[in-house]
Amino acid sequence: MDERIRILSGMRPTGRFHLGNYLGAARNWVDLQSRYDCYYFVADYHALTTEPDGHTVEGKIFDLAADLISVGLDPKRSVIYQQSKVPEVAELSLLLSMVTPLSWVLRTPTFKEMAKKHPDNVNLGLLSYPVLQGADIAIVKGQGVPVGKDQLPHLELIREVVRKFNRTYAPVFPEPRALLTESPLIKGTDGKQRMSKTVGNIVGVTDDPQVIRKQVKSMVTDVKRTYMTQPGHPRTCNVCAFYKFFFDDWQHYWDLCRKAKIGCGQKKELLAERIIETFRPFREVRAELSPEQVSAILESGSEAAREVARQTLAEVRQAVGLPPSRLR
Ligand code: TRP
Repeated sequence: MDERIRILSGMRPTGRFHLGNYLGAARNWVDLQSRYDCYYFVADYHALTTEPDGHTVEGKIFDLAADLISVGLDPKRSVIYQQSKVPEVAELSLLLSMVTPLSWVLRTPTFKEMAKKHPDNVNLGLLSYPVLQGADIAIVKGQGVPVGKDQLPHLELIREVVRKFNRTYAPVFPEPRALLTESPLIKGTDGKQRMSKTVGNIVGVTDDPQVIRKQVKSMVTDVKRTYMTQPGHPRTCNVCAFYKFFFDDWQHYWDLCRKAKIGCGQKKELLAERIIETFRPFREVRAELSPEQVSAILESGSEAAREVARQTLAEVRQAVGLPPSRLR
């Protein structure tokens, strides 16, 4: 029996894997593998809240799994799986929804934001998104959840729901804690919004060098600097912000920028080449991974997660007062 604390996290397969995903989450997931009993999954049910056609998500599931493996998630050390291959999650989400007051989900900030962003598709799934997320965690009895700050309201809600379940029926679940990923906000190429697939302001990680060059070239730089001969303002320049991640001697470049000894275009070129070089090993692993290998990893990970899920659901059904599950 593994005595380590069990943690779990998931990512939605909604587009190409990007710098925000890596620097803000996956890098940390990789590190945690040495200390925790890790469950990591591709949240394909969750993707359906904004992308109702599962067929368009299919290729992205594969891509995300392949990217996560390429950057260091290791199927020997972590259970890597696909959410919808563990259907027990959906049943647990239903059961948790019975102890979730409507007012709790209605006040979730992410729900309000999404409803504003997609006014034509405010579906019930979007509203119950955090409950499904709670089921993800509870089905494996996760104790820790590595997430970014934006997910804290969800975690708070999930803790309340879990507490309420335990109080109403039986103490089946541990109360999960957020393991905050200490990472500064990664802004996208627009220099304004958080890097995100939906905004379309991403810079890739395992993409072709040509793609990365183009993305970096499109970055908005120092708006107060029109000519190279003018001194730059690295503190407020998004390109300079990325130097902190990719150059140990970033201060040197910030200085050159302040003294107008390096232009924005040149800074972008250097940055693009550095990103490409840094992630070369990931790209190489990715190129070697066959679709069959990725499927096999997801398949056996999902089977392992299901084994745990079946046991949890059996306890849950008994606690609630339902007959044993007929899911096989
Ligand atoms: N909501 C998370 C996000 O948007 C993804 C997610 C789904 C998740 N289920 C989860 C994260 C369970 C942690 C635990 O980033």
